[in-house]
Amino acid sequence: EWSMANYIEESVRQIRETVGDKRVILGLSGGVDSSVAAALIHKAIGKQLTCVFVDNGLLRLHEREQVEKLYGDHFDLDLRVAKKANLFLGRLKGVSDPEKKRKIIGNTFVEVFDEEVNKLKKRGNYAFLAQGTLYPDVIESVAIDGNPAALIKSHHNVGGLPKKMKLDLLEPLRALFKDEVRELGSELGLPKEVVWRQPFPGPGLGVRVMGPIRKKDLDVLRRADAILHEEMMAADLYYKVWQSFCVFLPVKTVGVMGDERTYENVVALRIVESVDAMTADWARVPYEVLRTISSRIINEVTGCNRVVLDISSKPPSTIEWE
Ligand code: XMP
Repeated sequence: EWSMANYIEESVRQIRETVGDKRVILGLSGGVDSSVAAALIHKAIGKQLTCVFVDNGLLRLHEREQVEKLYGDHFDLDLRVAKKANLFLGRLKGVSDPEKKRKIIGNTFVEVFDEEVNKLKKRGNYAFLAQGTLYPDVIESVAIDGNPAALIKSHHNVGGLPKKMKLDLLEPLRALFKDEVRELGSELGLPKEVVWRQPFPGPGLGVRVMGPIRKKDLDVLRRADAILHEEMMAADLYYKVWQSFCVFLPVKTVGVMGDERTYENVVALRIVESVDAMTADWARVPYEVLRTISSRIINEVTGCNRVVLDISSKPPSTIEWE
C-alpha cells in the first residue's frame, strides 16, 4: 500500500544501495526541491552527503544565516558555504542587459560550484551529484532541448553540470510532482517556511535590481523586500499568493520628509497569483495591507521615498521584471 512513510523508507533503501560507501554532493539553494532532496538523502546516508550553498551576494536579507542555522545546526548536515558575493558583484559591475546578467550569474555559479566539487574530491570519494529534479522538470527539459525557441528567459538550473564533473546523477525526486515533494518535505521535518516557500529565481535579486547592480541598491531592495515579506505574513497572505516581492527601480523621484526635500529611488511591489507560473494575475491585496507595506517601506528604508504597485498580468508581462 502506498504511503509517504513507505515511500521514504523505499527511497532511503535505494539511496543507500546506490551510494554504497561513496559520497554525494548537492547544491543547496534553500528552495523547496533542493531542500527536500537534501533532507531525504541526509536521512539515508547522513554525513556521506555534503551540501554546497553559494552566497552570490544576490540573496535576500539574512538568507545565508537562515540556511546555516536550519541545515548546519538543526539538521546537522555537512554544509559548505561558498562566500562569493564579491566575485559575482564584480563581474556584474556595469552590466545592464538582463540576459547578460543571467548568463554571468549562471556561469559564475557553475564555476564556483565546480571549484567546490574539486576541493571536495581531493578530500574523499565523491561519486554522485544530487539534484532536486522533479517529474515536471524532466518533461520541461525535454521540451526546451527539443525547441530552443521555447526558452524565453535563459534558465538558471544546473543541467549539464555532472558530465564535466565526472559525477553520477542522483535524483531521488524524479518521480514526484511538486505537491508530493512538499508532503515529503513535511514528513522529513522541514519547516513550513521551507516547504511552502514562494519560488525565488536562480539569479536572485540580480534580476530584481533593474539595470546595473549596485551594492547599495541591493541593500535598499533587501530591506524593502523583508518588510513586504513580514507584512504578507502578518496579513496571512504570504502562502495564499504565488509570489510577493519587491523590484528596485533606478529612477529617482522627489519626496518630502519633515521639512526636507528628498530625492530617492522607487520600489515596485510585485504580488501575483498563479498556479504554474505560465500565466499569472496581480493579486488583489486589500488596500489597508498595501498602505501598511508602503508606509513602512518609505519610513524605514533609507534610499526609497516612493512605492508603486505592479498591476500587470502574465501574459503579456512576465512575473519577474527582467
Ligand atoms: P517569469 O518572469 O518568466 O517567471 O514570468 C516565471 C517563474 O519563474 C521564476 N524564474 C526563475 N526560476 N531560475 C529559476 O529557477 C530563473 O532563472 C528564473 N527566472 C524566473 C519566476 O520567479 C517565476 O516564478
